[in-house]
Amino acid sequence: MTKKRISIYHSILPVSFVLVTNFSGRLDSPVITQQQNTPPVVTIVNPKNNDAFNLDDAVNYQITVADKQDGDSKYDEINANEVLLRIQYISDRSKLRRLLNKRPNPDPPGFAAIRASNCFNCHNFKSKAMGPSFFEISKRYPATRANLDTLTKRVSQGSTGIWGNEKMPSHPELSPAETAAAVQWILKHAADPGINYLPGLRGQFRPGEIMPSNKKAGAFILTASYTDHGLKDAPGKQRLTGENAVVIFCK
Ligand code: HEC
Repeated sequence: MTKKRISIYHSILPVSFVLVTNFSGRLDSPVITQQQNTPPVVTIVNPKNNDAFNLDDAVNYQITVADKQDGDSKYDEINANEVLLRIQYISDRSKLRRLLNKRPNPDPPGFAAIRASNCFNCHNFKSKAMGPSFFEISKRYPATRANLDTLTKRVSQGSTGIWGNEKMPSHPELSPAETAAAVQWILKHAADPGINYLPGLRGQFRPGEIMPSNKKAGAFILTASYTDHGLKDAPGKQRLTGENAVVIFCK
């Protein structure tokens, strides 16, 4: 694996953000109002900001999370499935700074519902797990009203026999509106070849697999995030999201 520092010319500072959301994951207010719940500190330990790779390298990543209320990932106190790495391909490096400064990007409601629920236990974004990937689902069902209604009903009530013999359980914890928003998000966004989401504190990806096939090089913004569970004795109250982003360059 070739791995060298990129010249200082492209150097981008790492960024960390804190988001304040209510329990269902929607943006509440940009100001931290409750002092008792402290925001999680999310850190991408690897790769390092401005690292350079070849497109077919296997990039190993590692994320740590420390939250005063929920615990620390180094003591296995954080549910790894709730930590998410978003990998975004950027073809035009001159857009990097603007994209990084535009953050923090709160999760749209549909994606917030997906994260708050257990979907990532069985679905990967791009590869098959126990359930079909969100990418495959978005290819099979164009985002029509009829498909949206059918899939919302299946996620809500559970489903089996469409993709195979595995069974998807019902999701009574999501309201009909949240379920519809989740399905809508999958049908609209999962088909984008330049984005992947990987759950977990560590793993591996090949940058070349997260980009349109006609492109040859570029930068990738890696954003790790974790939403805490608020105060234990005040369930349903404010949750805080910690976010950390680094940029890697590939040729
Ligand atoms: C316990 C595992 C499991 C969980 C949790 C789960 N799924 Fe599924 N999902 C599956 C399986 C298995 C299938 C394929 C079911 C079938 O063949 O009918 C599936 C299918 C789907 C489909 C396609 C349905 C169709 O008719 O083609 C969608 C959309 C979907 N899941 C979304 C979600 C969302 C959103 C969540 C979280 C709210 C979720 N899933 C949680 C296992 C799961």
